[in-house]
Amino acid sequence: MTEQADNSAKYRRAWSRFATGVTIITTTEPGGATHGMTANGVTSVSLDPPLALVCVAHSRNSYALISESGEFGISVLSQSQKSVAQHFAKDPAERGPTPDGMFEGLGAGPAVVSGSLSIFSCQVVSHHEEGDHSIFIGLVKEFETREGEPLIWYEAGFPVLESQD
Ligand SMILES: Cc1cc2nc3c(=O)[nH]c(=O)nc-3n(C[C@H](O)[C@H](O)[C@H](O)COP(=O)(O)O)c2cc1C
Repeated sequence: MTEQADNSAKYRRAWSRFATGVTIITTTEPGGATHGMTANGVTSVSLDPPLALVCVAHSRNSYALISESGEFGISVLSQSQKSVAQHFAKDPAERGPTPDGMFEGLGAGPAVVSGSLSIFSCQVVSHHEEGDHSIFIGLVKEFETREGEPLIWYEAGFPVLESQD
């Protein structure tokens, strides 16, 4: 392994110890179909106005699609949606067909994943290229939330948290 590859692997391992939730970033393809990508590089930026950001690698299909459409959806997954995270983490050529009923439309903006814990519909207000990723900041136009257990990503797996009570 080259020194650079070794450093990248160490860098990934260090971040793998930062436990996060798991989301699907959705966008609309030029033909109108919904495109999804599993992502944990997501956070809230501002309450007033409500802003959220997503970090998308330039190599992803989603990068060009968000750049073109100027909008994205965020669906925060529940523990029961592990297979959804696995599906949208694959390259689209290897995903197989997206199961029926995966997405539901909102009033405007991209569709979101049905049954998610929270959903946000965002319009891109700024775009920052940084290294091999871009940060898209979106104004949240619509959001909804519901009760449930979250899907967690930690050390490249989906652990089930035990209640601390
Ligand atoms: C838990 C998890 C989190 C991920 N987070 C991101 C992310 O924040 N940004 C990103 O560009 N890719 C992320 N990925 C990788 C993409 O989901 C993956 O490359 C996907 O195939 C991209 O699809 P697309 O090229 O069709 O957009 C993540 C993968 C997993 C399993």
